[in-house]
Amino acid sequence: MTVIDGWQLSGAGAETYERFQVPSVLEPLAHTFLDAVPLRWGDRVLDVACGTGIVGRMAAPIVGPKGRIVGVDLNDGMLAVARRQPVVGGVRADWRQGDASALPCDDAAFDVVLCQQGLQFFPKRSAALEEMLRVLVPGGIVALCVWQSIDHSPINTAAAAALARHVGEGAARRLHAPFALGDRGELRRLLGAAGFRDIVISAAVITRRMLPPEISIPQALASTPVGPQVAALDIVTQTTLVAEIARDLEAYRDADGLAVPQATHIAVAWK
Ligand SMILES: C[S@@+](CC[C@H](N)C(=O)[O-])C[C@H]1O[C@@H](n2cnc3c(N)ncnc32)[C@H](O)[C@@H]1O
Repeated sequence: MTVIDGWQLSGAGAETYERFQVPSVLEPLAHTFLDAVPLRWGDRVLDVACGTGIVGRMAAPIVGPKGRIVGVDLNDGMLAVARRQPVVGGVRADWRQGDASALPCDDAAFDVVLCQQGLQFFPKRSAALEEMLRVLVPGGIVALCVWQSIDHSPINTAAAAALARHVGEGAARRLHAPFALGDRGELRRLLGAAGFRDIVISAAVITRRMLPPEISIPQALASTPVGPQVAALDIVTQTTLVAEIARDLEAYRDADGLAVPQATHIAVAWK
């Protein structure tokens, strides 16, 4: 299933994202992602599709006060949450509204461009990569983190199937969107076509630690773009939906709740 969806959250979605998705998924992922990137003290870093800013915030203590963090995202709601978060290490951070395919940044202004779980959502992926190349200094680094296909994500597989049964195919497709660029060959081709060189793509698996499914599944769904559709279901259907997802995740239960794997690709390349 090929899906391009801007993964836009509305209303209180950005706060819910920061509260639930970031600690259980995006923050552990950012640790793994940044481990793969040769960031240096003093680097000027651009975080494309920064969302609520977790990658930029975690890069800040690595680049230190001589460095700089700029985040760009289409969604003002996500940026408003990013601006309220503390950035440690005395680093200047600047959160800008903009489209990845027309970055609001000067040519050759950054040493490193990061993009965690953003590229798959862009309708103009090639244009976005060409923009990343434009804003990098010669010899600068781009690093992209993009989920592998949905069959490497048991939570989304289970949730998409239950949504198809109880909400509709449209809602299920939105949960497929984060996994629309799972093909490592296509990722390499896109980077090469944009003009990047020395492309290295690795695979990594994070473990999503979650509270018991009766608590964590409603929270997780509320912090995705299908949240409003799930909230509009009657309470019996909502309970059935959660019970069916929990049943499919039974193999991942432990004493604390759920521990579920999710696999990503990490691509690093040079200008
Ligand atoms: C799954 S979130 C990832 C956010 C963040 N990188 C993180 O790790 O938490 C995807 C983000 O991509 C942003 N986005 C989608 N299309 C975009 C575009 N064309 N230009 C800039 N941002 C975009 C969305 O607004 C959303 O914040």
